Amino acid sequence: MKRDFLAITDFTTEEIQEVFSLAGRLKENPSKGSGVLKSTTVACIFHKPSLRTRISFETGIHQLGGNSLYVTEKEIQLGVRESIYDAAKVLSRYVGMIVIRTFEQRDVDQLGKHAEVPVINGLTDLLHPCQVMGDMFTVLEKKGRLQDMRIAYLGDGNNVCNSWLNACTRFPLDLRIGTAQGTEPNPEILERARRTGLSKIEICYEPEAAIADADVVYTDVWASMGQKDLAQERAKLLSSFQVNSKLLSKATPDCIVMHCLPANRGEEITDEVMDGPHSAVFDQAENRLHVQKAIMMTLFGRSNT
Ligand code: CP
Ligand code: NVA
Repeated sequence: MKRDFLAITDFTTEEIQEVFSLAGRLKENPSKGSGVLKSTTVACIFHKPSLRTRISFETGIHQLGGNSLYVTEKEIQLGVRESIYDAAKVLSRYVGMIVIRTFEQRDVDQLGKHAEVPVINGLTDLLHPCQVMGDMFTVLEKKGRLQDMRIAYLGDGNNVCNSWLNACTRFPLDLRIGTAQGTEPNPEILERARRTGLSKIEICYEPEAAIADADVVYTDVWASMGQKDLAQERAKLLSSFQVNSKLLSKATPDCIVMHCLPANRGEEITDEVMDGPHSAVFDQAENRLHVQKAIMMTLFGRSNT
């Protein structure tokens, strides 16, 4: 049966560990798996802009021997020009895999349900699973473990934050979300993560309490794609969560700083932190490539390569 990767919870802990191990091998030897997508076309449907996701997927697809097709909202008009069901059935006759970045998670879920080929979520308003898979791999690479890692996520409780909550159902993390009233993460995802009982999860409204003794300090833009009209209001609500040197001094001395990028330098993170010794942001961006190649290989049943 075909598999999708629409949320981190689509993979078991063991499968995610295998993805990380394969990603490590691919990082060491980028030509590994070079025939896995031979004669396979992958439709990369993007309804929002992208640097990292698009370029890392397209590069990874080519490295695995496949072809990628970049499709914007102008062409398919998913759910507008025709139903998601019809589009899923037709796409499945042409391509061997679909990567989609769009607004509604339910559209991606529908596409996954009706497509006969694997579908990968390249970001929705709700989730950004490939990002947090790459991030966990980066934490493992830099800190050697995920177990009980104290992660301070500061800022908007958005798609990236929700995916960290999903990660809490697969690994025993210590996640503190420092945010304002009104910008908390999705309540159902939070509740489900807490119910699993695997990780320690706290919502903190105080930046210093959120970052205290953190091993990993994570931030993201205060207003995500599609919400830019909220930028001013969010800046007022979240300004005290800016990751700057003063706030960072409360984290552990060997902490790493992460940001999924693109960053609004001077807003959620300062230049001195982003370009400083703790920053892991560019390694994090690179790791998207290796981890996504491993995810695609896993969906093609080739994780042992
Ligand atoms: N982090 C990330 O997904 O970046 P893009 O929006 O550029 O793809
Ligand atoms: N939360 C951000 C992530 C971008 C990679 C957004 O959705 O715009």
